[in-house]
Amino acid sequence: MNAPQTPSRWDRPGSSRVPFWADTDPQLYQQELEKIFYGPHWSYVGLSTEIPHVGDYKLTQIGERQVLLVRDRVGPRERATDHGIRVVENRCAHRGVRFCQQPHGNARSFVCPYHQWTYKLNGDLAGLPFKDGVKDGDCVNGGMPEGFDIKDHGLTKLRVAVLHGLVFATFSADAEPLEDYLGPQIMPWLDRIFKGRELTLLGYNRQRIPGNWKLMMENIKDPYHPGLLHTWFVTFGLWRADQKSRMVMDGQGRHAVMISRRNEGGQAAVTEGVTSFKANMTLHDDRLLDVVPEPWWTIDDPANPGSSITPTVTMITLFPGLIIQQQVNSLSTRQIVPRGTGEFDFVWTHFGLSDDTPEMTQRRLRQANLFGPAGFVSADDGEVIEFSQDGFKQWGDGGATLCELGGTGTEATEHMVTETLIRSMYAYWKKVMAV
Ligand code: FES
Ligand code: FE2
Repeated sequence: MNAPQTPSRWDRPGSSRVPFWADTDPQLYQQELEKIFYGPHWSYVGLSTEIPHVGDYKLTQIGERQVLLVRDRVGPRERATDHGIRVVENRCAHRGVRFCQQPHGNARSFVCPYHQWTYKLNGDLAGLPFKDGVKDGDCVNGGMPEGFDIKDHGLTKLRVAVLHGLVFATFSADAEPLEDYLGPQIMPWLDRIFKGRELTLLGYNRQRIPGNWKLMMENIKDPYHPGLLHTWFVTFGLWRADQKSRMVMDGQGRHAVMISRRNEGGQAAVTEGVTSFKANMTLHDDRLLDVVPEPWWTIDDPANPGSSITPTVTMITLFPGLIIQQQVNSLSTRQIVPRGTGEFDFVWTHFGLSDDTPEMTQRRLRQANLFGPAGFVSADDGEVIEFSQDGFKQWGDGGATLCELGGTGTEATEHMVTETLIRSMYAYWKKVMAV
């Protein structure tokens, strides 16, 4: 009898057949944490508007390591060159305790509950009890050894980069500068939403999805499914296969933008045979689709100089774990926090723009109800991601996906009948993971 095969080699050419073990192998997942999340990649940790005042902090995660996004004190002279935003690891330098348990808060300093080592907002160790021992008559008992210098025992400090209010951090000294990491193909689509704007925080929702973290990135690089899985999208024209659309990727194929322009409602030829299309479905409350075009939707077309482009939907995936959604008037970031091979948390931060009227804020909040676990898009992506993971587990190591809509290549396209963005992400993943 043959010994069971250990999944380690991706023995097919290209990236159009993704082996199921890429989503189920625990050893491989540990390597993903090291090479991807703690390696030379930038991870999103939040919006600067979430921590407006000195001492404000937010607890979040990169891979499975908890970090704190915090607003430090900055002198008036440094303000021009220092945004004051720090990211430090939530792990005490003494005996490794996760000292912070609050998801958000404001602090003058961070004090570890175990032995009260105290850290400044920038992660420097400020002091610790009994460092110089305890006096007993003329002698001193205990204390830290002579060569102990508090300067050498701060929290792990991450590199931080802030782009138009989006905060990214990395554990790696080797990650390239953030704008190079994102690349010139992606930047115009980030500028379109964020550049020169103040953001306002509208709220959060979270879901825990029983599937591999990469399946969520795949899902947002998959323009094939929205007009099929999501009844609502196809019926009310938010996403249909005949829409004007474009698939953009960075030079390395790891980040992407799905760009699309909404049709008005009603039946189009393309809905023939799409069983999720419900011609007679109407809304009791049509405020849900009270879409108001915004001036910033139109930009100079980065691909066609001299002409402009006005998408109604842009879904940006920034490897490894961020999705930025603009679906008509609803805006959100969605952060993927992995929890082992078969589970991740999906954290949505809904935001608006500081010059929004109260009506626009209401509209953004109402439209946010279209998406997410209790959204109208039905069915939610989290549900099919769970079914995918179940299918992979059931098949075992020999299986692979078939991801060849639009061919087996990894080029940008001007239509949505393609799985090219998924193939390009796995081509990059394969290279980084050396499988
Ligand atoms: Fe934090 Fe001891 S573990 S002070
Ligand atoms: Fe979807």
